[in-house]
Amino acid sequence: MNYRGPFRVRIDEKPHPKIEHPEDAIVKVLRSCICGSDLHIYHGMVPDTRVGTTFGHEFVGVVEEIGPEVTKLKVGDKVIVPFNISCGKCAFCKQELYGNCHESNPQATAVGGIFGYSHTAGGFDGGQAEYARVPYANVGPTIIPEGMDLDDAVLLTDVVPTGYQAAEMGGIKLGDTVVVFGAGPIGIMAAKCAWLFGAGRVIVIDNVNYRLEFAKNYSQCEAYNYEEIGDPVEFLKKATDWLGADVCIDAVGCEAGGQGMQTITGRKLMLQAGSATALQWAINSVKKGGIVSIVGVYGPTGNLVPIGNVVNKGITIRANQASVKRLLPRLIEHVQAGRLNPKGIITHRIPLENVAEAYRIFSDKLDNCIKTVLIPPTVRT
Ligand SMILES: NC(=O)c1ccc[n+]([C@@H]2O[C@H](COP(=O)([O-])OP(=O)(O)OC[C@H]3O[C@@H](n4cnc5c(N)ncnc54)[C@H](O)[C@@H]3O)[C@@H](O)[C@H]2O)c1
Ligand SMILES: [Zn+2]
Ligand SMILES: [Zn+2]
Repeated sequence: MNYRGPFRVRIDEKPHPKIEHPEDAIVKVLRSCICGSDLHIYHGMVPDTRVGTTFGHEFVGVVEEIGPEVTKLKVGDKVIVPFNISCGKCAFCKQELYGNCHESNPQATAVGGIFGYSHTAGGFDGGQAEYARVPYANVGPTIIPEGMDLDDAVLLTDVVPTGYQAAEMGGIKLGDTVVVFGAGPIGIMAAKCAWLFGAGRVIVIDNVNYRLEFAKNYSQCEAYNYEEIGDPVEFLKKATDWLGADVCIDAVGCEAGGQGMQTITGRKLMLQAGSATALQWAINSVKKGGIVSIVGVYGPTGNLVPIGNVVNKGITIRANQASVKRLLPRLIEHVQAGRLNPKGIITHRIPLENVAEAYRIFSDKLDNCIKTVLIPPTVRT
């Protein structure tokens, strides 16, 4: 296939791919899938998606030709080709961060190479084609086990591992309530995998009824249409004794619906790299101290906070307000011993009656204000 511009792809005759590097293999494609991720490039949401690109990062095939340095494959092998392109040798590959290879996409510091996923992800042609060039063929391609159905195999290139990793990153503990946003293939697989990690309850949210039905059956989960439950965050709080879910998984990404302002700024006007509605809901409906796991794809730049880079770099975000009580004993010790001087930061002491002024000074950063103390009249002498 050949990408011609947003919402336009077509079939074209393209030259047969060639061995370009001694570690390349040419694979005759046996199966490829279209993924929710492909929609983002198809819709023109991913920068530097060039006309003429062949999409397709989910494919299995039979090895047709190998470069002189390919030792792990031979012609005729049937292989699962992971969607990530990984060199196997860089510091990130050595940490098994195969989605963050530093060699396969040297122009980018976030994501590694991905088949058929724009020049942002390395500019490789993908597997929605008859033949594909597979770089680093000693590293990624994995021989399809004897007797495995090719349909199963092709889902091992992305959907299964991504769904599984979504659940894994959620740090699910025994009995946890897990909410999955998105009932596409990834969300459904994530919901399924959540049970493997010991979840006690799994809830899937989407607005497409047939997908919700599918999720209910396939993943044995509860499933709700966000257009029918009022505010999804409130609904989920209510469903969890007003505590929130232990784990929320964003399996939607940049093309989320459900929130007007996100849709307008993220998808219509493209003022940010996608609408982050599912992420917003995930953050707001997870329990205090809970974990949000994101596998939904976001544009690499553009959002006020570059959430796409968080995903593409595989960064761990842990956050909280300070647990003051936990820290107090040791901090008191530091102050008592003179190692800390908290009051040193006070720059302004302002009568409480002048609170408006105090705010103006602080807010507008006037008068070198760092810290204001308001003094009520009753305590003033
Ligand atoms: N991180 C990875 O390695 C990786 C791999 C594969 C896919 N992905 C990404 O995962 C996401 C899901 O992939 P998919 O193939 O299942 O896509 P998909 O498009 O089939 O499914 C997305 C689903 O989300 C639903 N949705 C939209 N807005 C929603 C909202 N606000 N709340 C809940 N659901 C909402 C849609 O109706 C749709 O059913 C995509 O962003 C895709 O790019 C990431
Ligand atoms: Zn995919
Ligand atoms: Zn690498």
